[in-house]
Amino acid sequence: MGRREIFAGNWKMFKTYREAEDLVKGILSGLGDIGSREVVIFPPAVYARDMAKLCMNTQVKVGIQNMYHEKEGAFTGELSPSMVRDCGCAYILIGHSERRHVFGEKDGDVNKKVKAALENGLSPVLCIGELLDDREKGRTREIVKKQLEGGLDRIAAGDLDKIIIAYEPVWAIGTGKVATPEIAEETHLFIREIIGTLYDGKVSQNMPILYGGSVKPDNISGLHVKENIDGALVGGACLKADSFLDIIHVK
Ligand code: 13P
Repeated sequence: MGRREIFAGNWKMFKTYREAEDLVKGILSGLGDIGSREVVIFPPAVYARDMAKLCMNTQVKVGIQNMYHEKEGAFTGELSPSMVRDCGCAYILIGHSERRHVFGEKDGDVNKKVKAALENGLSPVLCIGELLDDREKGRTREIVKKQLEGGLDRIAAGDLDKIIIAYEPVWAIGTGKVATPEIAEETHLFIREIIGTLYDGKVSQNMPILYGGSVKPDNISGLHVKENIDGALVGGACLKADSFLDIIHVK
């Protein structure tokens, strides 16, 4: 296949500092030989620097769950791209469904963040996905296309190798209702087609597309065997070292 395989854990707003340390230590001690698989954790921002230190010289990389696109300024409560980098983080989640639907982020905001991430040497994990209502009304493709076109607006083809796409259908996030491997694969293939149209076939073939939404140790293998699913963005199941490791080690 040749594409990067990435297993990412989004901790959301969970864990005390001690629990965060224990989780990272647990992941590192059980990781073993993962070959060329990549692992990225997204702890709460206040823990990121310390978690990045714990992970230094290991195969676990650290990212932050959100940032603002401006370089600096009077933006109380926000983090700049260079602050993310200064924490030892090379990855940034952008446009997660909770950012979009709880905090009102629009495709335009997402696009500014993608650009700012690239300008600052960060790898954006661009999250997209439709609501249940969209799926029930047969609008999944329309929404996914709009989010991709909006998020990638005026991003140069040469920068696409730093971007990772995460398809997270909102109806599958935190609900225990994982998308079937067939549904996920169909949408991943569609995402690849859109990227092929916006850029070219080579860019689209190389793009890692992760699935997210109720990924667990007992459903990852069905997703993992699908040709266009290149890994997972895990929420709840990444909060315990054992279950995250089982996902990372999927056969
Ligand atoms: P769950 O795995 O808890 O459904 O969360 C998915 C997610 O939002 C990861 O970013």
